[in-house]
Amino acid sequence: MMPQLQYGTPAKVFHWCIVVLLAVQYPIGWLMPDLHRGMSPGAGMTFHISIGITILALTALRLVWRLAHPVAPESSLPAWQRLSSEVVHWLLYALVLATTFSGWVFASFRGWSVSYFYLVPLPMLASDNAAAGRTIDGLHQAMEWALLVTIGVHIAAALAHIFIYRDSVMRRMLPG
Ligand code: HEM
Ligand code: HEM
Repeated sequence: MMPQLQYGTPAKVFHWCIVVLLAVQYPIGWLMPDLHRGMSPGAGMTFHISIGITILALTALRLVWRLAHPVAPESSLPAWQRLSSEVVHWLLYALVLATTFSGWVFASFRGWSVSYFYLVPLPMLASDNAAAGRTIDGLHQAMEWALLVTIGVHIAAALAHIFIYRDSVMRRMLPG
């Protein structure tokens, strides 16, 4: 299949919805109360988990859409930028999936029963296991930070294209 030259509307809608959800998700993660053994998840945690599962589902759909609709990097860019942007983009997909998945496994090891926005119970991926939970907690935190750093690089690159290179890269992800 020939790659398209521009992102279509679905790719843009997925991109900006996930940006907004992540911008809500990090503050909830940092501000929600720490949970200790025997405690059950409060509202902050329920929203964190529900938004996280939404991000996971949207990213999975987005990935399927993207694989079915390849988009070529902007052709006017030098080879190193075409390559590095593709590496960062695939890393972003991988880290979002790793962060959400490790969070879900961690919540499962806690032995909680959590709901999706208090509407439907969420299936847990594993059974109660405190020792495994501690390992996975570290993994969720490592993935969150790796994702945040990669997002920082991605945003810095977007800003560089707007203000330094002054090319059309930012317009590729904007409406219209
Ligand atoms: C991309 C999506 C996600 C991001 C950016 C994110 C981010 C965070 C952040 C910033 C924290 C605070 C950790 C800290 O104190 O350093 C946290 C904790 C936590 N997250 Fe997530 N999270 C995501 C998805 C999920 C999902 C999908 C689940 C579960 C289904 C989940 C479950 C948890 C749990 C249980 C904690 C508490 C950890 C603890 O008590 O130490 N997260 N997350
Ligand atoms: C204000 C913040 C952001 C800006 C200005 C921005 C800008 C852009 C731009 C201009 C592109 C197109 C690049 C190109 O044509 O080569 C793009 C692609 C992409 N962005 Fe962002 N972005 C932002 C935040 C994020 C965040 C938080 C994520 C985390 C998931 C993300 C994930 C991606 C991915 C995965 C692609 C590649 C899409 C694909 O090829 O399938 N972006 N972004």
